[in-house]
Amino acid sequence: METLLQVRVAARKVVAEDVVAFEFAPLDGVELPGFEAGAHIDVHVPGGPVRQYSLYQLPDSLPRYCIGVLRDPQSRGGSVRLIDGVKEGDILSISRPRNHFQLHSGPDHAMLFAGGIGITPIMCMAEQLAREGRSFELHYSGRTPARMAFLDRLRSAGFADRVQVHSDDGAADQLLDARAVIGSPVVDRQIYVCGPTGFMDHVLSSARELGWGESHLHREYFAAAPIDHSTDGPFEIELSHSGRCISVKADQSAAQALIDAGVPLSLSCEAGVCGTCQTRVLAGVPDHRDLYLTDEEKHEHFMPCCSRSCTPRLVLDL
Ligand code: FES
Repeated sequence: METLLQVRVAARKVVAEDVVAFEFAPLDGVELPGFEAGAHIDVHVPGGPVRQYSLYQLPDSLPRYCIGVLRDPQSRGGSVRLIDGVKEGDILSISRPRNHFQLHSGPDHAMLFAGGIGITPIMCMAEQLAREGRSFELHYSGRTPARMAFLDRLRSAGFADRVQVHSDDGAADQLLDARAVIGSPVVDRQIYVCGPTGFMDHVLSSARELGWGESHLHREYFAAAPIDHSTDGPFEIELSHSGRCISVKADQSAAQALIDAGVPLSLSCEAGVCGTCQTRVLAGVPDHRDLYLTDEEKHEHFMPCCSRSCTPRLVLDL
């Protein structure tokens, strides 16, 4: 089991309509692990679920973790409990930072696209790229400026001239035209996108239609749309290391069946967006339900927290 970190809520601030930023500081005598842009932490919401939040500010000499939380009444309660229930001085349990959304190393130009609260990892990426003197541009889209967090911070940043803000309620000539911005594929360019599912799908499908390959597309989903389980059936998982077979019932996730059978498996989002539970599949045809794997990765990998099987048996590298 992962060891959790204890942190103190050092600051809590409303940074846009329905968005609150929290700053977590270490308890006395403890140093928080460093991280790179794109990292997220799991926050154990008091009395509630575990939720993932991207870190929006790069660490200075002594890391503090800063997250932005969007009040989402449609969510499973994590954001509302955090915003309404957590105050400065409270102690929270969090995970160490994890990063499934890293910047490519090297001199490639980065095209950063953020939709709404998706600005959190994207702003951190912009800060890192600016610190490293690398080339980038940032496109930040939202419904209205009042709901777009960190606009002031971006406008006063040293890289403000590389930020374009697109608000749905603004003039037609400032709306994001993803196809025009992305253009034809360029070998030394990378595209990074984070935000609501519809926004991300729009940016990614625009890039694909223009001919961009998957290796140039990088994304981080915040939440998955609800998965329809009404047609789920049972299947078996064979563990390649031991040959052991585990039955997955129709009303049970593969991850739950594995954990119940004593197989060590790390879980975080349990919704197919964070990448924590990724395993290799050696035989059988998975029924992929996640948003994390690329089409190419789906040939070899499987997310047991949400995905199932098209064949009676899957063999996993466990
Ligand atoms: Fe997050 Fe499976 S636990 S993708």
